[in-house]
Amino acid sequence: MYVFGAENVFNNRFKSGGGGMSLVIDGAQERLVKSSERVRDLGEVFTPNATVQEMLDLLPATLWVPHPSPTFLEPACGNGNFLVAILDRKLESVANDLAKGNLQAGIDPSSAQFHALEALASIYAVDISSDNIIGGTPGHEVGARTRLLTMFTDWNFEFLGKRLNERSLVLRAATWVVEHNLIIGNMLPFDAEGKTTGRDQIPLIEYNWDPGSHSVSLYKTTLGDVIATEDEKTVTMLSLFAPAAPEQFWCGKATSLSDAERFEAPELRGPARNGTGRRA
Ligand SMILES: C[S@@+](CC[C@H](N)C(=O)[O-])C[C@H]1O[C@@H](n2cnc3c(N)ncnc32)[C@H](O)[C@@H]1O
Repeated sequence: MYVFGAENVFNNRFKSGGGGMSLVIDGAQERLVKSSERVRDLGEVFTPNATVQEMLDLLPATLWVPHPSPTFLEPACGNGNFLVAILDRKLESVANDLAKGNLQAGIDPSSAQFHALEALASIYAVDISSDNIIGGTPGHEVGARTRLLTMFTDWNFEFLGKRLNERSLVLRAATWVVEHNLIIGNMLPFDAEGKTTGRDQIPLIEYNWDPGSHSVSLYKTTLGDVIATEDEKTVTMLSLFAPAAPEQFWCGKATSLSDAERFEAPELRGPARNGTGRRA
């Protein structure tokens, strides 16, 4: 099965088989389609890394700066192909500035960890499939949250020589961040019967990072508030947070961030969230 109807795209080669379509890149395989049911139910076809990179190359380099780290929202993120590529660029920028002694938080590894957390927390995403966000089920072992945390942990080891484990405050803070920024949710406001999906109640956390004190303030708003404010404007890009007046609910050292109160996204309604049934 050739989903894109072409054998060669960006010099990569598509293969098909029982497990869905994959793309061969330098010997490693990218899985772009998990199943025909998921294509039918969720419109799920992942973007190949080469395409992700070409698209990100079109953006200005200023989007990768460590501080303040510009925010991204992926409204149908799949298992995170864009998210990991964005984090990769942001972490590379932190590593480069650390090497040059340019990080605002300082010149030591804990300052780099502060900016790495800021980079991670700048990435927001929604997907309707828990398999894509959380994973951990057969055929969907690794979800987007885990991919970001793995990249974060690997970077800490490779660039800072710090091996994180579940007791590390930095990893606990990073886990809190991905659990709040990467949400299982429906980005459509209404379902097929015209009922509201709960999209507007999806909580969004704004992080205000202070490099001088290695601290962060957390504010809470909702996707509905952000969209409503932005709808009144005529801009084509949704700017996260600037217009609303979100409520501050926590402030402290970035490494203690996992102590902050937790917020849950609304329960999903509707039949097609895991690609297991036809649309109503
Ligand atoms: C074409 S895939 C793109 C995935 C990812 N953005 C990428 O480029 O690799 C579309 C994604 O949208 C998700 N999706 C479908 N309907 C959705 C909805 N109403 N709200 C949020 N996500 C949805 C699917 O689960 C699927 O992962």
